[in-house]
Amino acid sequence: MRIGIIGTGAVARTLAAKLVSLGHQVTLGSRSRDNAAATEWAHQAGPYGHAGTYPDAADFGELVINATAGTVSLQALRLAGADRLAGKVLVDVSNPLVFAPDGEVTLDPVNSDSIGEQIQREFPDTRVVKALNTLSAPLMVDPGRVPGAHNLFIAGEDPEAKARVRELLGEFGWPAEVVVDLGGISAARSTEMLMPFWLNMMRHVGHTDFNYSFKIAE
Ligand SMILES: NC(=O)c1ccc[n+]([C@@H]2O[C@H](COP(=O)([O-])OP(=O)(O)OC[C@H]3O[C@@H](n4cnc5c(N)ncnc54)[C@H](OP(=O)(O)O)[C@@H]3O)[C@@H](O)[C@H]2O)c1
Repeated sequence: MRIGIIGTGAVARTLAAKLVSLGHQVTLGSRSRDNAAATEWAHQAGPYGHAGTYPDAADFGELVINATAGTVSLQALRLAGADRLAGKVLVDVSNPLVFAPDGEVTLDPVNSDSIGEQIQREFPDTRVVKALNTLSAPLMVDPGRVPGAHNLFIAGEDPEAKARVRELLGEFGWPAEVVVDLGGISAARSTEMLMPFWLNMMRHVGHTDFNYSFKIAE
């Protein structure tokens, strides 16, 4: 499959490397055509890895991933172009983290809205699926970093889009039964709001190889 990634940070490059290793073609999109992180990544990724702008990545992808900072995701997707994203599945991995100069991290939006919902509202012809935002980038593509069965969450309005994202997660190594469908895109609020807890856990254990695991009564 051809996959466009909006963003060039750690998440974008980790997902891109895994996707190429699985035989997908990937274009990493950046604000500028000569973004060093993207061009270096594409150079070492081989013939299936490409670098371009946000519009290039949106054009290229049959499926598109938003891997930008949540506070700028709408801005980045506007640059990518609503027409280029129309009809496509957009996997939104972002979190609405706001970093204060004193190190405090807060969320915006929070409680009554989410980045996932903002994107779906502004891009109604795009099939947004919130996924993968509740765990670290290395763990996204290598669930075995944490022992045993542990869970992922998806949320979105379009069942077929969620089914395609489940398939992709399966390719990453996440069995279907651990992927919890929380319902419509408003459920993105709950997964984005796990972030303060996740950050506290990271400080507590001193690394990022941990995840949520639910045992559900039959
Ligand atoms: N790091 C993790 O392990 C992790 C785990 C789960 C979820 N997430 C979420 O995944 C997303 C990506 O995280 P990350 O750590 O890889 O990268 P990040 O540093 O949060 O975001 C980097 C991307 O944001 C873009 N960006 C920054 N300012 C912008 C602006 N004003 N307009 C348009 N685009 C702008 C950058 O564009 P350029 O390429 O043009 O520079 C870059 O591609 C975030 O929302 C994060 O919360 C991260």
